[in-house]
Amino acid sequence: MNYRHHYHAGNFADVAKHLVLLALVDGMQRKEKGFLYLDTHAGRGAYDLMGAARGDVLARRPEWPDGWGRLTKDGKTGGVLVQRYLAAVSEFAESMGGDGKPYPGSPALVAARLREQDRAVFCERHPEEYGALVTTLLGFRRTRAEERDGYEAMQGNLPPKERRALVLIDPPYEQSDESERVTAALRDGLRRLPGGTFAVWYPITERVGVPAFVRAAEPGHFPPTWKAELTIAGPESGLKMRGAGVMVVNPPWQLDAQVKPVMVWLGEQLQQAPGSGGELHWLVPE
Ligand SMILES: C[S@@+](CC[C@H](N)C(=O)[O-])C[C@H]1O[C@@H](n2cnc3c(N)ncnc32)[C@H](O)[C@@H]1O
Repeated sequence: MNYRHHYHAGNFADVAKHLVLLALVDGMQRKEKGFLYLDTHAGRGAYDLMGAARGDVLARRPEWPDGWGRLTKDGKTGGVLVQRYLAAVSEFAESMGGDGKPYPGSPALVAARLREQDRAVFCERHPEEYGALVTTLLGFRRTRAEERDGYEAMQGNLPPKERRALVLIDPPYEQSDESERVTAALRDGLRRLPGGTFAVWYPITERVGVPAFVRAAEPGHFPPTWKAELTIAGPESGLKMRGAGVMVVNPPWQLDAQVKPVMVWLGEQLQQAPGSGGELHWLVPE
């Protein structure tokens, strides 16, 4: 349990993930009926990017200047979803006040958007991160934090009484069998709630390769599923993590048309070496 998300908060991968997440929440909220948002790997809920920049929290170079930082300069050309993401980050920062540079994690982003009829459960296994998560969620109604394994929490929380759920699975991929754990959790989650929307984040690295759950998402075995990927450099770049993706099972209708152009745009904006790009592919068509 060495992984700490501080290092990565606001980086290119967070940008892509949080943009897709906001679009998913919008998609879920097109229907009046409430839903459960379940965040299996929540982290501390929010981050101070200035802490990262000052180096008092971290002894390494912050990653956000090449992610969220770039969009604050050139985000205007990115379209509605990008504007929405930038506004969500600014609103969060304003709500926090102070002299830092607050950046919302997935919990703060979603908690701020819950309607009366929605609720959220956030799971975090690391005790310190969990403590900070509880603090982040103070003041957000209809939210609950659980200090436990996120995969087990899926079993405990699905199916929800609302019969509708959006589940974000965002593990650190420290363990070599993480993709297999996600695949098993997804299969189990789909048995419990066949119509549930599941979003899984994954890195694009040599070490992880094509994750087991992406390979498992085949017609006949999975419901409609697409994956959106962003690469900031080509394979020759030598970058350890040169991209990231989000696989979405049972995506809200027509979300692909919104997300695809944003991924392409991010591929241009967030390039770090030749060979960057963005795409969206249906693995199991509707
Ligand atoms: C990538 S970070 C989460 C970032 C967060 N979803 C966001 O977008 O702001 C992954 C988190 O999962 C936690 N974690 C690792 N294994 C876990 C498990 N099995 N169950 C719950 N949390 C876990 C780590 O401590 C870390 O804080």
